Amino acid sequence: MTWRIFISDRIHEDGLARLREAEDVTEVVLKPGLTAAELARELAQGYHALVVRSRTKVTRELLEAAPALRVVGRAGVGVDNIDLEAARERGIVVVNAPEATTDAVAEHTLALLFAVARHIPQADASMKAGRWEKKAFMGVELAGKTLGIIGVGRIGAAVARRARGLGMQTLGYDPYLSAEALAARGVEPVTDLAALLARSDVVSVHVPLTPETRGLLNAAAFARIKPGAIVLSTARGGVIDEEALLAALEDGRVAGAGLDVFEHEPPGATRLVTHPRVVATPHVAAQTREAQARVARDIADEVLAALRGRPLRWRVV
Ligand code: MLT
Repeated sequence: MTWRIFISDRIHEDGLARLREAEDVTEVVLKPGLTAAELARELAQGYHALVVRSRTKVTRELLEAAPALRVVGRAGVGVDNIDLEAARERGIVVVNAPEATTDAVAEHTLALLFAVARHIPQADASMKAGRWEKKAFMGVELAGKTLGIIGVGRIGAAVARRARGLGMQTLGYDPYLSAEALAARGVEPVTDLAALLARSDVVSVHVPLTPETRGLLNAAAFARIKPGAIVLSTARGGVIDEEALLAALEDGRVAGAGLDVFEHEPPGATRLVTHPRVVATPHVAAQTREAQARVARDIADEVLAALRGRPLRWRVV
């Protein structure tokens, strides 16, 4: 059998080449930026695979409009933009590429931490305005501080490894991992989220967005957080309740935040984004040349394997 593949978000050339060179693939169409209705019309023409990043929302309606669809490939980790239940019901396989971006996201998490702890963006903006304000930029050291990691999967563990290299103590909260598994990932296991929040100088979120994790860091959580803590998220918007974080920044309980993800993206110049002690980046943690090339190659291989009925490395559904 031969395959037709539709790609609705831009992916690295390495992945496109792998798909185009496959001898059982007759057509690879890359059309980023379509509306939901336009994409539904394209998929109605009998494509067998759809490759997306996070911009395309793979809804039930879209899947219902795609009669020949066998596989959805998510070029990245998070699958919160895909209706997994609808895919399961229609027998459509969903695969992702969860290993390719681990180092990039872990490095960006640390970049945000340094930026917040040492006021790098503010100091740079001040220099560019011709000023020399040494006293305005008193920072805090990371060595000897405690980092609390919420969600100790691949990325959480990679952040922990790097943080230990900086001389930080690492705590981990992850209800899906045993104490032994957490210890093997280099974090002190903490079974209670409130205890982690109370002990951590820096709290970093590394869980997917699910009904269970939505609003995990809410007003009640911020009431428990160690005064003066720094909060980081390179995971998914919605895990942190943004109103609650803003209130904690305004009352001084949270000293600063480094955020790459937002409940609504793009968020615009909200009070959270423009807060003077927030360093914000536009969901770019996974955006390195190396990671995007790896992601594209991994998802191309996985989509081809799914179409060919071969064993899958990263089947979500
Ligand atoms: C991911 O889930 O892979 C990252 O957040 C980057 C992206 O959304 O593409």
